[in-house]
Amino acid sequence: MQEKISQLSVAIDSFTASSVEEVEALRIKYLSKKGEITALFNDFRNVPNEQKREIGQLLNQLRDKAQDKINALKESFENAQVHVAGSDLTRTADPIALGTRHPLSIVKNEIIDIFSRIGFTVAEGPEVEDDWHVFGALNFAPEHPARDMQDTFFVEKNPDVLLRTHTSSVQSHIMTTQKPPIRVLCPGRVYRNEAISYRAHCFFHQVEGLYIDKDVSFADLKQALLYFAKEMFGENTQIRLRPSYFPFTEPSAEMDISCNLCGGKGCNFCKHTGWVEILGCGMVDPNVLEACGIDSKVYTGYAFGMGVERITNLKYQVKDLRLFSENDVRFLQQFKSAF
Ligand code: DAH
Repeated sequence: MQEKISQLSVAIDSFTASSVEEVEALRIKYLSKKGEITALFNDFRNVPNEQKREIGQLLNQLRDKAQDKINALKESFENAQVHVAGSDLTRTADPIALGTRHPLSIVKNEIIDIFSRIGFTVAEGPEVEDDWHVFGALNFAPEHPARDMQDTFFVEKNPDVLLRTHTSSVQSHIMTTQKPPIRVLCPGRVYRNEAISYRAHCFFHQVEGLYIDKDVSFADLKQALLYFAKEMFGENTQIRLRPSYFPFTEPSAEMDISCNLCGGKGCNFCKHTGWVEILGCGMVDPNVLEACGIDSKVYTGYAFGMGVERITNLKYQVKDLRLFSENDVRFLQQFKSAF
Protein backbone atom coordinates (compact mmCIF):
# COMPACT_ATOMS: atom_id res chain seq x y z
CA MET A 1 0.00 0.00 0.00
CA GLN A 2 2.74 2.41 1.02
CA GLU A 3 4.55 1.83 -2.25
CA LYS A 4 1.41 2.48 -4.26
CA ILE A 5 0.88 5.72 -2.32
CA SER A 6 4.33 6.99 -3.15
CA GLN A 7 3.93 6.02 -6.82
CA LEU A 8 0.70 7.98 -7.02
CA SER A 9 2.31 10.92 -5.22
CA VAL A 10 4.97 11.09 -7.94
CA ALA A 11 2.28 10.84 -10.59
CA ILE A 12 0.42 13.79 -9.06
CA ASP A 13 3.58 15.88 -9.18
CA SER A 14 3.72 15.46 -12.91
CA PHE A 15 0.04 16.30 -13.56
CA THR A 16 -0.34 18.60 -16.55
CA ALA A 17 -3.31 19.49 -18.68
CA SER A 18 -3.86 21.59 -21.74
CA SER A 19 -7.61 21.98 -21.39
CA VAL A 20 -10.39 21.86 -18.80
CA GLU A 21 -11.41 18.50 -20.24
CA GLU A 22 -7.99 17.06 -19.49
CA VAL A 23 -8.22 18.31 -15.90
CA GLU A 24 -11.58 16.57 -15.56
CA ALA A 25 -10.05 13.38 -16.95
CA LEU A 26 -7.40 13.52 -14.22
CA ARG A 27 -10.06 13.95 -11.59
CA ILE A 28 -11.98 10.94 -12.84
CA LYS A 29 -8.84 8.82 -13.08
CA TYR A 30 -7.76 9.48 -9.51
CA LEU A 31 -10.55 10.88 -7.38
CA SER A 32 -13.87 9.68 -8.79
CA LYS A 33 -15.75 6.72 -7.27
CA LYS A 34 -13.69 4.34 -9.36
CA GLY A 35 -10.53 6.43 -9.21
CA GLU A 36 -7.15 5.06 -8.16
CA ILE A 37 -6.95 7.03 -4.92
CA THR A 38 -10.52 6.15 -4.00
CA ALA A 39 -9.60 2.50 -4.59
CA LEU A 40 -6.84 2.78 -1.99
CA PHE A 41 -9.32 4.15 0.52
CA ASN A 42 -11.51 1.11 -0.20
CA ASP A 43 -8.50 -1.17 0.48
CA PHE A 44 -7.82 0.61 3.75
CA ARG A 45 -9.87 -1.86 5.75
CA ASN A 46 -7.30 -4.56 4.85
CA VAL A 47 -4.42 -2.60 6.38
CA PRO A 48 -3.20 -4.23 9.64
CA ASN A 49 -4.46 -2.34 12.68
CA GLU A 50 -1.02 -1.26 13.88
CA GLN A 51 -0.33 0.48 10.50
CA LYS A 52 -3.75 2.10 10.15
CA ARG A 53 -2.76 5.34 11.78
CA GLU A 54 0.31 5.94 9.62
CA ILE A 55 -1.21 4.75 6.34
CA GLY A 56 -4.40 6.67 7.04
CA GLN A 57 -2.42 9.89 7.32
CA LEU A 58 -0.50 9.20 4.12
CA LEU A 59 -3.72 8.45 2.27
CA ASN A 60 -5.35 11.67 3.41
CA GLN A 61 -2.30 13.66 2.38
CA LEU A 62 -2.31 12.00 -1.01
CA ARG A 63 -5.97 12.77 -1.63
CA ASP A 64 -5.52 16.41 -0.56
CA LYS A 65 -2.47 16.80 -2.75
CA ALA A 66 -4.32 15.44 -5.79
CA GLN A 67 -7.34 17.63 -5.08
CA ASP A 68 -5.19 20.76 -4.66
CA LYS A 69 -3.29 20.10 -7.85
CA ILE A 70 -6.48 19.53 -9.81
CA ASN A 71 -8.08 22.66 -8.36
CA ALA A 72 -5.02 24.70 -9.27
CA LEU A 73 -5.03 23.41 -12.83
CA LYS A 74 -8.74 24.10 -13.16
CA GLU A 75 -8.31 27.61 -11.86
CA SER A 76 -5.51 28.34 -14.29
CA PHE A 77 -7.94 27.67 -17.13
CA GLU A 78 -10.74 29.66 -15.56
CA ASN A 79 -8.47 32.68 -15.10
CA ALA A 80 -6.95 32.42 -18.52
CA GLN A 81 -7.94 35.16 -20.93
CA VAL A 82 -10.17 34.56 -23.88
CA HIS A 83 -8.11 33.12 -26.67
CA VAL A 84 -9.23 33.72 -30.20
CA ALA A 85 -7.12 32.15 -32.87
CA GLY A 86 -4.05 32.37 -30.69
CA SER A 87 -4.43 36.04 -29.71
CA ASP A 88 -5.62 37.52 -26.44
CA LEU A 89 -8.29 40.13 -27.13
CA THR A 90 -8.39 41.36 -23.55
CA ARG A 91 -4.78 42.56 -23.47
CA THR A 92 -3.87 46.23 -23.70
CA ALA A 93 -3.11 47.01 -27.31
CA ASP A 94 0.16 48.72 -26.59
CA PRO A 95 1.50 48.13 -23.08
CA ILE A 96 3.15 51.23 -21.69
CA ALA A 97 5.60 50.85 -18.81
CA LEU A 98 4.93 53.39 -16.06
CA GLY A 99 7.80 55.80 -15.57
CA THR A 100 9.09 57.13 -12.26
CA ARG A 101 9.49 60.69 -11.15
CA HIS A 102 12.99 62.17 -11.33
CA PRO A 103 14.69 62.13 -7.92
CA LEU A 104 15.22 65.90 -8.09
CA SER A 105 11.49 66.40 -8.75
CA ILE A 106 10.62 64.12 -5.85
CA VAL A 107 12.80 66.10 -3.46
CA LYS A 108 11.72 69.48 -4.87
CA ASN A 109 8.06 68.49 -4.41
CA GLU A 110 8.78 67.33 -0.89
CA ILE A 111 10.42 70.68 -0.03
CA ILE A 112 7.40 72.52 -1.47
CA ASP A 113 5.02 70.25 0.42
CA ILE A 114 6.78 70.90 3.73
CA PHE A 115 6.82 74.69 3.35
CA SER A 116 3.30 74.84 1.95
CA ARG A 117 2.12 73.54 5.32
CA ILE A 118 3.37 76.76 6.93
CA GLY A 119 1.83 79.06 4.36
CA PHE A 120 4.36 79.27 1.52
CA THR A 121 3.13 79.40 -2.06
CA VAL A 122 5.20 78.71 -5.18
CA ALA A 123 6.51 81.37 -7.57
CA GLU A 124 8.69 80.89 -10.62
CA GLY A 125 10.81 83.26 -12.64
CA PRO A 126 12.78 83.29 -15.89
CA GLU A 127 16.05 81.39 -16.37
CA VAL A 128 17.33 83.97 -18.86
CA GLU A 129 17.71 87.17 -16.90
CA ASP A 130 19.13 90.66 -16.84
CA ASP A 131 21.92 91.78 -14.52
CA TRP A 132 19.58 93.79 -12.29
CA HIS A 133 17.32 90.90 -11.22
CA VAL A 134 20.19 88.48 -10.58
CA PHE A 135 22.76 90.85 -9.05
CA GLY A 136 21.89 94.55 -9.01
CA ALA A 137 18.68 94.39 -6.97
CA LEU A 138 20.31 91.89 -4.63
CA ASN A 139 23.02 94.27 -3.46
CA PHE A 140 25.94 92.71 -5.38
CA ALA A 141 28.71 95.27 -5.70
CA PRO A 142 29.56 96.10 -9.34
CA GLU A 143 32.89 94.31 -9.04
CA HIS A 144 31.53 91.23 -7.24
CA PRO A 145 33.27 88.10 -8.58
CA ALA A 146 29.95 86.26 -9.17
CA ARG A 147 29.37 88.69 -12.03
CA ASP A 148 32.55 87.49 -13.66
CA MET A 149 32.48 85.56 -16.95
CA GLN A 150 34.11 82.69 -15.10
CA ASP A 151 31.02 82.13 -12.98
CA THR A 152 28.17 83.37 -15.10
CA PHE A 153 27.01 82.31 -18.55
CA PHE A 154 26.31 85.41 -20.61
CA VAL A 155 23.88 85.32 -23.50
CA GLU A 156 24.66 88.91 -24.50
CA LYS A 157 26.89 91.67 -23.19
CA ASN A 158 25.93 95.36 -22.86
CA PRO A 159 23.24 95.30 -21.83
CA ASP A 160 23.90 92.05 -20.07
CA VAL A 161 21.62 89.10 -20.66
CA LEU A 162 22.61 86.06 -18.66
CA LEU A 163 21.51 82.71 -17.29
CA ARG A 164 20.54 83.12 -13.66
CA THR A 165 23.16 81.82 -11.25
CA HIS A 166 20.72 81.46 -8.37
CA THR A 167 16.98 81.45 -7.76
CA SER A 168 17.38 84.49 -5.50
CA SER A 169 16.67 86.41 -8.72
CA VAL A 170 13.01 85.41 -8.37
CA GLN A 171 12.99 87.45 -5.13
CA SER A 172 13.63 90.58 -7.19
CA HIS A 173 10.65 89.81 -9.42
CA ILE A 174 8.34 89.06 -6.52
CA MET A 175 9.30 92.07 -4.44
CA THR A 176 8.91 94.50 -7.31
CA THR A 177 5.50 93.16 -8.31
CA GLN A 178 3.85 92.15 -5.02
CA LYS A 179 3.11 93.89 -1.78
CA PRO A 180 3.94 92.34 1.62
CA PRO A 181 3.02 90.10 3.27
CA ILE A 182 4.98 87.91 0.88
CA ARG A 183 5.62 84.25 1.60
CA VAL A 184 6.94 82.37 -1.42
CA LEU A 185 9.07 79.44 -2.42
CA CYS A 186 10.89 79.69 -5.74
CA PRO A 187 12.14 76.41 -7.17
CA GLY A 188 14.10 76.33 -10.40
CA ARG A 189 17.17 75.56 -12.46
CA VAL A 190 20.27 77.70 -12.21
CA TYR A 191 23.45 77.86 -14.27
CA ARG A 192 27.10 78.40 -13.41
CA ASN A 193 30.18 78.22 -15.53
CA GLU A 194 31.76 75.27 -13.73
CA ALA A 195 33.79 72.37 -15.05
CA ILE A 196 31.59 69.28 -14.92
CA SER A 197 32.71 66.65 -12.43
CA TYR A 198 31.13 64.27 -9.94
CA ARG A 199 30.67 67.15 -7.53
CA ALA A 200 29.92 70.14 -9.76
CA HIS A 201 27.76 70.75 -12.80
CA CYS A 202 27.12 73.72 -15.06
CA PHE A 203 23.44 73.57 -14.16
CA PHE A 204 21.69 72.50 -10.99
CA HIS A 205 18.55 73.25 -9.02
CA GLN A 206 17.69 75.46 -6.10
CA VAL A 207 14.72 76.34 -3.98
CA GLU A 208 14.61 79.88 -2.67
CA GLY A 209 12.38 80.96 0.20
CA LEU A 210 11.28 84.50 0.98
CA TYR A 211 9.09 85.84 3.76
CA ILE A 212 8.43 89.54 4.16
CA ASP A 213 6.03 91.12 6.61
CA LYS A 214 5.98 93.45 9.59
CA ASP A 215 8.08 92.21 12.52
CA VAL A 216 9.65 89.19 10.87
CA SER A 217 12.67 88.23 12.97
CA PHE A 218 15.67 85.94 12.86
CA ALA A 219 13.85 83.72 15.39
CA ASP A 220 11.09 83.20 12.81
CA LEU A 221 13.71 82.16 10.28
CA LYS A 222 15.31 79.73 12.68
CA GLN A 223 11.97 78.22 13.65
CA ALA A 224 10.92 77.69 10.01
CA LEU A 225 14.26 76.08 9.16
CA LEU A 226 14.23 73.80 12.19
CA TYR A 227 10.73 72.68 11.25
CA PHE A 228 11.91 72.03 7.68
CA ALA A 229 14.98 70.03 8.78
CA LYS A 230 12.92 67.79 11.06
CA GLU A 231 10.25 67.19 8.42
CA MET A 232 12.81 66.45 5.72
CA PHE A 233 15.39 64.45 7.65
CA GLY A 234 13.55 63.14 10.69
CA GLU A 235 12.39 64.24 14.12
CA ASN A 236 15.82 63.84 15.75
CA THR A 237 17.56 66.18 13.30
CA GLN A 238 19.33 69.15 14.85
CA ILE A 239 20.38 72.37 13.14
CA ARG A 240 23.14 74.89 13.68
CA LEU A 241 23.54 78.31 12.11
CA ARG A 242 27.02 79.58 11.31
CA PRO A 243 27.59 83.29 10.56
CA SER A 244 28.29 83.83 6.88
CA TYR A 245 28.10 86.48 4.19
CA PHE A 246 25.70 86.99 1.28
CA PRO A 247 25.24 90.42 -0.34
CA PHE A 248 21.46 90.21 -0.12
CA THR A 249 21.08 89.26 3.54
CA GLU A 250 22.28 90.86 6.77
CA PRO A 251 22.95 89.10 9.02
CA SER A 252 23.62 85.99 6.95
CA ALA A 253 24.14 82.41 8.01
CA GLU A 254 24.78 78.97 6.66
CA MET A 255 22.78 76.16 8.13
CA ASP A 256 24.12 72.71 8.95
CA ILE A 257 22.06 69.73 10.01
CA SER A 258 23.30 66.93 12.23
CA CYS A 259 24.68 64.31 9.84
CA ASN A 260 21.76 62.10 8.88
CA LEU A 261 24.05 59.15 8.13
CA CYS A 262 25.79 58.83 11.48
CA GLY A 263 23.29 60.79 13.57
CA GLY A 264 25.98 63.33 14.49
CA LYS A 265 28.59 60.90 15.82
CA GLY A 266 30.99 61.58 12.95
CA CYS A 267 31.58 59.58 9.76
CA ASN A 268 33.32 59.88 6.42
CA PHE A 269 30.30 61.60 4.90
CA CYS A 270 30.34 64.49 7.40
CA LYS A 271 34.15 64.47 7.49
CA HIS A 272 33.91 63.40 11.12
CA THR A 273 32.35 66.69 12.19
CA GLY A 274 28.83 65.35 12.81
CA TRP A 275 27.37 68.21 10.71
CA VAL A 276 26.58 68.73 7.03
CA GLU A 277 25.81 72.04 5.36
CA ILE A 278 22.47 72.33 3.62
CA LEU A 279 21.56 75.94 2.94
CA GLY A 280 22.28 79.66 3.10
CA CYS A 281 19.94 82.12 4.76
CA GLY A 282 19.57 85.44 6.48
CA MET A 283 17.48 88.57 7.04
CA VAL A 284 16.77 90.37 3.77
CA ASP A 285 19.20 93.31 3.55
CA PRO A 286 17.34 96.66 3.79
CA ASN A 287 19.18 97.71 0.60
CA VAL A 288 17.41 94.87 -1.24
CA LEU A 289 13.99 95.84 0.12
CA GLU A 290 14.54 99.46 -0.90
CA ALA A 291 15.87 98.55 -4.35
CA CYS A 292 12.65 96.61 -4.92
CA GLY A 293 10.37 99.35 -3.61
CA ILE A 294 9.55 97.93 -0.19
CA ASP A 295 9.81 100.27 2.80
CA SER A 296 12.55 98.80 4.99
CA LYS A 297 11.42 100.86 7.97
CA VAL A 298 8.06 99.12 7.96
CA TYR A 299 8.93 95.65 6.72
CA THR A 300 11.55 93.06 7.49
CA GLY A 301 11.98 89.61 6.04
CA TYR A 302 14.03 86.50 5.84
CA ALA A 303 15.31 84.51 2.88
CA PHE A 304 16.96 81.18 2.38
CA GLY A 305 18.25 79.20 -0.55
CA MET A 306 19.10 75.53 -0.86
CA GLY A 307 20.45 73.22 -3.53
CA VAL A 308 18.04 70.45 -4.50
CA GLU A 309 20.92 68.18 -5.58
CA ARG A 310 22.52 68.67 -2.18
CA ILE A 311 19.37 67.68 -0.29
CA THR A 312 18.83 64.74 -2.65
CA ASN A 313 22.38 63.53 -2.06
CA LEU A 314 21.84 63.70 1.66
CA LYS A 315 18.59 61.76 1.43
CA TYR A 316 19.65 59.17 -1.10
CA GLN A 317 23.47 59.19 -1.00
CA VAL A 318 23.95 59.76 -4.71
CA LYS A 319 27.72 59.97 -5.09
CA ASP A 320 27.97 61.45 -8.59
CA LEU A 321 26.03 64.60 -9.54
CA ARG A 322 26.23 63.75 -13.21
CA LEU A 323 23.79 60.86 -12.72
CA PHE A 324 21.00 63.41 -12.32
CA SER A 325 21.27 64.58 -15.90
CA GLU A 326 22.22 61.40 -17.75
CA ASN A 327 18.72 59.93 -17.96
CA ASP A 328 19.90 56.41 -17.25
CA VAL A 329 16.67 54.53 -16.47
CA ARG A 330 18.54 52.06 -14.27
CA PHE A 331 19.36 54.98 -11.98
CA LEU A 332 15.99 56.71 -12.28
CA GLN A 333 13.89 53.61 -11.66
CA GLN A 334 15.29 53.30 -8.17
CA PHE A 335 13.26 56.32 -7.05
CA LYS A 336 9.64 55.64 -6.37
CA SER A 337 7.62 58.08 -4.36
CA ALA A 338 4.27 59.60 -3.61
CA PHE A 339 5.50 63.07 -4.60
N1 DAH B 1 21.70 82.47 -3.55
C1 DAH B 1 22.60 81.75 -2.69
C2 DAH B 1 23.46 80.81 -3.53
O1 DAH B 1 23.15 80.56 -4.65
C3 DAH B 1 21.85 80.94 -1.69
C4 DAH B 1 21.20 81.81 -0.68
C5 DAH B 1 21.88 82.18 0.45
C6 DAH B 1 19.91 82.27 -0.86
C7 DAH B 1 21.31 82.98 1.40
C8 DAH B 1 19.33 83.07 0.09
C9 DAH B 1 20.04 83.42 1.23
O2 DAH B 1 18.07 83.56 -0.02
O3 DAH B 1 19.44 84.23 2.15
O4 DAH B 1 24.44 80.31 -3.03
